[in-house]
Amino acid sequence: MTAQLNPRGDVAVLVPAAGAGVRLGPGRPKALRLLAGEPLLVHAVRRLAAAASVHTIVVAAPIAEVAAVRELLAPIAPVTVVPGGAERQESVAAALAAVPAGPDIVLVHDAARALTPPALVESVAAAVRSGHDAVIPVLPVVDTIKEVDADELVLGTVDRRALRAVQTPQGFRRSVLAAAHAAAGDALTDDAGLVEKQGVPVFCVPGSDHALKITRPFDLALAEHLLATGLRTRTLDS
Ligand code: C5P
Repeated sequence: MTAQLNPRGDVAVLVPAAGAGVRLGPGRPKALRLLAGEPLLVHAVRRLAAAASVHTIVVAAPIAEVAAVRELLAPIAPVTVVPGGAERQESVAAALAAVPAGPDIVLVHDAARALTPPALVESVAAAVRSGHDAVIPVLPVVDTIKEVDADELVLGTVDRRALRAVQTPQGFRRSVLAAAHAAAGDALTDDAGLVEKQGVPVFCVPGSDHALKITRPFDLALAEHLLATGLRTRTLDS
């Protein structure tokens, strides 16, 4: 059944899904790889459409797959599909340009974080709504982190208490994201990085283990397991 988006919602979600996904091994573009029999993008869009504040979803698809992605997502939710660019940043810019008048909050979400819960979408949007111009979901870093040189010799140990692993969706006041993209120079891997360059404070909210980025075959296996076990998780020290 096709989900209905909220016509009174104040959130547009951009989904850059035009990457090749070479780290997953040879095959289809990453967003179209199957997880429990359905493309990652379908899982991601289904969860975005279930978030109550979402008014618009715009997907940037690989150019050769735009028509196929439109057909794929039509039964899931009313989604706008645009051709992506050569870099992630170009794909986000193309999706941003397709957002209709209305939503004042724009979230940018990687299709590769296919199991992101609707509650995380809502908590990022709520933090923007409450006055933060840029919001990112983060998790603490659990591994010890070393800085190394080109010969793999350790230069030093980084204090992990001050480090965060960043997820998506990243949320922005619409005008702030538009200004950051208009001024963008070098391609960055996240949109908060562009906004930081504009001197805008970026606020962190707690992320979710389920928002893991499905990048390598191991991540795909983990995501399959999470779906098969009803997404139950616990940490060993909680
Ligand atoms: O390559 P990486 O895993 O960092 O890509 C993150 C997200 O950006 C993925 O969902 C991918 O499909 C998307 N992307 C894109 N256009 C590109 C490259 C990546 O939409 N040219």
